Amino acid sequence: HAADAHRTDLMTITRFVLNEQSKYPESRGDFTILMSHIVLGCKFVCSAVNKAGLAKLIGLAGETNVQGEEQKKLDVLSNEVFIKALVSSGRTCILVSEEDEEALFVEHSKSGKYCVVFDPLDGSSNIDCGVSIGTIFGIYLIKDGVEPTIGDVLQPGKNMVAAGYCMYGSSCMLVLSTGSGVNGFTLDPSLGEFILTHPDIKIPKKGKIYSVNEGNAKNWDEATAKYVDRCKFPEDGSAAKSLRYVGSMVADVHRTLLYGGIFLYPADKKSPNGKLRVLYEVFPMSFLMEQAGGQAFTGKQRALDFVPSKIHERSPIFLGSYDDVEEIKELYASQ
Ligand code: AHG
Ligand code: MN
Ligand code: MN
Ligand code: MN
Repeated sequence: HAADAHRTDLMTITRFVLNEQSKYPESRGDFTILMSHIVLGCKFVCSAVNKAGLAKLIGLAGETNVQGEEQKKLDVLSNEVFIKALVSSGRTCILVSEEDEEALFVEHSKSGKYCVVFDPLDGSSNIDCGVSIGTIFGIYLIKDGVEPTIGDVLQPGKNMVAAGYCMYGSSCMLVLSTGSGVNGFTLDPSLGEFILTHPDIKIPKKGKIYSVNEGNAKNWDEATAKYVDRCKFPEDGSAAKSLRYVGSMVADVHRTLLYGGIFLYPADKKSPNGKLRVLYEVFPMSFLMEQAGGQAFTGKQRALDFVPSKIHERSPIFLGSYDDVEEIKELYASQ
């Protein structure tokens, strides 16, 4: 269609968030301002990722984070970018980052009512070979007129008011939910704007792909082992599933959201709580999955019901298409 080549009525992410917030009469534009700062952070990191090889941004920063992981230069840079973007929004009070041991309490003069938990750069091991990486974030809201405490972020994921991720992939995509569905925006590099390209994303009810680090199989528990075995050798005569595993949660979850299927980071004998962190990996992705019609399960309970007791706590996670997650839930229930 000729008109499609010159679309001029573009739904930018700012316009979209403004529209959504106008449904709440009490909203004073604070969330829209916060989101515009997150979006700025994503654009900055996207541009840094794109020129990483040219700008000497590849390699180690020389420090180790609280998780015991060696930080990459881009981990450190992205963390700084988001901290600055969030503090300068004037709308945040507590920030929790994968790369910082302690939560950051924003000084009073710049403080607002939102808490942001984030993984500034997800998929660090894929930086140096140019494979998709991302940023993950979740947002909580504190009560009006109350001094923020760490309890405001040690809350179940179902209390988040919004969650999302930005994927620095073959194109840069921001996927967002404010609690009424999931919407995807693609960065138009010539405009520098995120444009709504994937409205109201729904995950297929059942998928054909499973996504897991099978190198850990020897340490899995029985339910996980049995589930993955069934993916390969289905007992009900259905077709076997395909395996896809990038090793960047953002990329693996993004594909799962669009194509359907299941993403697993289970517990194993070496890491009884799995690897992924509850606040800024498990919760935001679980929030998006449920909003898209899928499910997220920890092996014991609905992921969004989990109550974290420390900010860098980990949990096993199984998330994706409704029917596929239902199957693993049944296996855990029967063991
Ligand atoms: P991060 O790079 O933020 O530390 O996260 C890494 C995570 C996640 O992106 C991915 O799903 C997982 O690590 C992959 O772990 P394995 O290498 O153990 O499969
Ligand atoms: Mn890390
Ligand atoms: Mn991560
Ligand atoms: Mn990270």
